[in-house]
Amino acid sequence: MKLTDFSAVPRGRGFASDNYAGAHPQVLAALAAASTGHASSYGYDPYTERLSSYLRQELGPDTGVYPVFNGTAANVLSLQVLLRPYQAVICPRSAHLNEDECGAPERWLGIKLMDVATSDGKLRPEDIESLLHGRGDEHRVQPAVVSITQPTEWGTLYALDEIRAISACCKKHGLWLHMDGARISNAVAALGVSLREMTVDSGVDVLSFGGTKNGLVFGELVLTFKPELSREMLYFRKQMGQLHSKMRFISAQFLAFFEDDLWLNSARHANAMAAELSAGAVKIPGVDLAYPTQVNGVFVCIPREWNKPLQEYMPFYIFDVERNMARWMCGFDAQREEVEGFLGRVRELGAG
Ligand SMILES: Cc1ncc(COP(=O)(O)O)c(C=O)c1O
Repeated sequence: MKLTDFSAVPRGRGFASDNYAGAHPQVLAALAAASTGHASSYGYDPYTERLSSYLRQELGPDTGVYPVFNGTAANVLSLQVLLRPYQAVICPRSAHLNEDECGAPERWLGIKLMDVATSDGKLRPEDIESLLHGRGDEHRVQPAVVSITQPTEWGTLYALDEIRAISACCKKHGLWLHMDGARISNAVAALGVSLREMTVDSGVDVLSFGGTKNGLVFGELVLTFKPELSREMLYFRKQMGQLHSKMRFISAQFLAFFEDDLWLNSARHANAMAAELSAGAVKIPGVDLAYPTQVNGVFVCIPREWNKPLQEYMPFYIFDVERNMARWMCGFDAQREEVEGFLGRVRELGAG
């Protein structure tokens, strides 16, 4: 067998994750284009330079741009520049860094996460203030960072006002604000504001900026918005094994991502497909919308006995086993026919 003959590899599609999708053809083309000739290694290449100056133009001259391989590392590195080992991060219980990173922040940084139960994945100023009573007491871990996810792990969005209220609360209490933006493209597309308005102008200090879930082969960015937060990042990134020697291949992907608003167009499409899926699903008896569909994920509670037949039709995850809450995720390449076909199968099940 020819090892690169992939014709027999199953090409099934579904709503399991935006990580299941392939890479956007324009991203692949940029990778190929960046592969001709040699370029300096470890980020001292013209592609990374172009990406940094583009983002500094968009987000302000103090922006530090640090390409990394994945989102977990982007989160850990973001927190690392903000924290000392006796300090803590306040975050929603549902935060990816709390529930889905295998304890990476605790393991790498030796810090504590102070998680708060929320009704919709969103932290509020009163949640933050409820955890500050031990400040200045040497017996207690010291909260120093607030981390929010935009959009949240449950597909909900913070409005700009809500981000600004959190950042005002952080300022008032001398806390840093980190934003996990693994799917921030979908949030920017949904709210129709600029990346700058949603982040640096709303008081975010460090941003984990996602690329992989929106059409990159791999690649995320840590973006810092204050010069003092840049000082140690180069060293932390290297120590964590996140300094890509051929960094041009991350940067070139991001250049394609930002060119002609590919990132926003891809995100708009994914959001629109999720909106159609959601609108169709809520009309079907047995389907209960768990959270409003604001970006590219549809969260619905469905009868348990539907799981098997529906997952056989197209894969998806049950995100909360107790409530049997399914997550139907649309990627940049989701197709209307798939949405309609899937809804047809849900309707059959709903009709009993
Ligand atoms: C909100 C959020 N943050 C961070 C990550 C981590 O990304 P990675 O799997 O690349 O480490 C994910 C991945 O699912 C995520 O959903």
